[in-house]
Amino acid sequence: MKLRINRASPFARKARIVAREAGISNRIEEVETTVSPVVANEALAQDNPLIKIPALVTDTGETLYDSRVICEYLDTLHSGLRLFPEAGPQRFAALRRQALTDGMLDAAVLCRYELAVRPEATRWPDWIAGQKRKIFGGLAALETEVSSWADEFNVGQIGAACVCGYLDFRFADWHWRSGHPHLAAWNERITRRPSVADTTPPA
Ligand code: BEZ
Repeated sequence: MKLRINRASPFARKARIVAREAGISNRIEEVETTVSPVVANEALAQDNPLIKIPALVTDTGETLYDSRVICEYLDTLHSGLRLFPEAGPQRFAALRRQALTDGMLDAAVLCRYELAVRPEATRWPDWIAGQKRKIFGGLAALETEVSSWADEFNVGQIGAACVCGYLDFRFADWHWRSGHPHLAAWNERITRRPSVADTTPPA
């Protein structure tokens, strides 16, 4: 299989962590792919018309996107502990947590593009503040629930690890740990997990 990634992308990181947790990363060739909101990568467009990563080309030649679909597909390729719980309240808690953390990542990546790509003269501080409000609202929700996670590590926790890692990577000056001590302690522990440590964004 071929997985189009960018080491900076938190959505690609979700898929990379799932591949490692599932023990199938040796079956996946990770292809570093350049992405930009303003310059289309034509090679990526062949695999995903939305020109977004991650995109997975399976062994039978089908292409899957987005990260949610790829992660759930990869989870069908192993016989270990399910990263998408199969049924019941546990499944919907994991899916809801995935939706929360994906929304936080969407907002964070939009802020990144706004601050790194958009010409300064056309930036809109209120818009950035609106996205930041979503991210910090999500952090507050994670802080409330993190104590109940114990050793659980499914797609919900994988999303949370990607949020914490991306905020450290791109927005260290937002000091997300302040006011979120339980989430910070959980993140400290989880960054030592091999699948998470192995996918840390580049310095
Ligand atoms: C980043 O550089 O922050 C980034 C790269 C690819 C996708 C999303 C974010």
